[in-house]
Amino acid sequence: MRFSHYIIMSQPAKPKNQKTFQAPRGTYDILPDEQIYWEKIYKTIKEVFLFYGFGRIDTPVIEDADLYVRATGETTDIVEKQMYLFKSKGGDSLALRPEFTPGVIRAYLEDGLSALVHPVKLYSWGPLFRYENPQTGRYRQFHQVNLEVIGSKAVANDAEVIQLFFVVFRELGLKAINLHINSIGCSECQPHYRKLLLGYYKNRADRLCADCRRRFRQNPLRLLDCKDEHCIQLMAGVPQMIDHLCEECHTHFKSVLEFLDELEIPYILNQSLVRGLDYYTKTVFEFWPDGEQARQGALGGGGRYDYLIKFLGGKDTPAVGGGIGVERLIAQLKFQAIKFHPLINPRVFLVQLGELARRRGFKIFEELRKANIAAAAAFSKDSIKTQLKLADRAEIKMALILGQQEVLDGTIIVRDMTTGAQETIKQDKLILVLKKRLAKKIINQ
Ligand code: HAM
Repeated sequence: MRFSHYIIMSQPAKPKNQKTFQAPRGTYDILPDEQIYWEKIYKTIKEVFLFYGFGRIDTPVIEDADLYVRATGETTDIVEKQMYLFKSKGGDSLALRPEFTPGVIRAYLEDGLSALVHPVKLYSWGPLFRYENPQTGRYRQFHQVNLEVIGSKAVANDAEVIQLFFVVFRELGLKAINLHINSIGCSECQPHYRKLLLGYYKNRADRLCADCRRRFRQNPLRLLDCKDEHCIQLMAGVPQMIDHLCEECHTHFKSVLEFLDELEIPYILNQSLVRGLDYYTKTVFEFWPDGEQARQGALGGGGRYDYLIKFLGGKDTPAVGGGIGVERLIAQLKFQAIKFHPLINPRVFLVQLGELARRRGFKIFEELRKANIAAAAAFSKDSIKTQLKLADRAEIKMALILGQQEVLDGTIIVRDMTTGAQETIKQDKLILVLKKRLAKKIINQ
């Protein structure tokens, strides 16, 4: 039965001055009617990712805070402003995970996954925490679907991560999702480009916004993705990274684009796309919804990170990955009016009259479950009128009516809710009769 069919009972009056509780700012509850989206998304990603050889990894929600300082980057917004930090009773400095990648790499190094055949392909799903200013599409507790391919520098794996997210969008029925893509080079070509960038901004620094003045000193690449109007105007003649890639990065990027052409995945070359996390090298990408919906932010993003594993104490191991925000994905599904079947769509409503019938009714209800016949009932209701009304409201076309007499006779009444026609049958024939009547469309999932 859909949650909206439950009847909300009246509450006793609240004593004066009693504190009421709300979910913390930027967090929310996922109610039963909403679960349709979550189940469908999880079912889809699981099917697609398992098929492509990804194994699920669950890492703790808490990690050593230093892991993010080192991996995500000291001057990133996530580390500087958004981490939920606390000291455990034992004095450890812990953080609620703001992203998956550092924890997954920590597990890869700690749990001996580096001894497996490479690339090691892992996916994760779960809540993340960032102390952000809550607004449309931006929460303090949100969820991501995350992919990592560890131990491959092959272009095919950059394309695979992008392709898999596209497959998920398509499987869910989404249209009009734009892929933005760029290359931010490697340790060879990026330092040279940084110098060019600093040279360009040197005489313009005093006209930059406060954030960009800080970026100018700490992380000049991020000057390129500022959304401030004046800063955007200042970008007019900025040197483009793509013109300054070393030969290896240039060839790599060109091959990624050729791969995407072959896969018929359209892309937008976005030269100001640099991503807000420090570990990226070479390919970076983001998925954006069309038009108005872009206001909620990117649906997802990711890229290559060829130095992170060594930086965290492992061997030189290239990797690539990406993450999608589940809340933003659901907002997009709703915006595009994409609907999914309810998790359970009852085909019969069991009406019980009197104590004896209620007890027998419980048994019949379980028999229906075992026979895969989706059913609904209201065991707390007595009147036949109320129960039939509930069946009607839930648009259930068949009612099974069980009264005291039927219990004693071992029978049950099958009522067609559209015509009102009724037939009394033996209880031990019920499943057979229902299966025939429901014309083998027993459960519509
Ligand atoms: P990210 O761009 O920080 O990347 O996050 C990926 C996606 O998570 C975003 O595009 C957005 O959809 C969603 N997201 C981020 N913050 C919020 C928020 N406050 N509220 C709602 N949704 C949000 C990463 O996290 C990288 N670890 C992805 C990656 C994996 N790169 C390589 N491997």
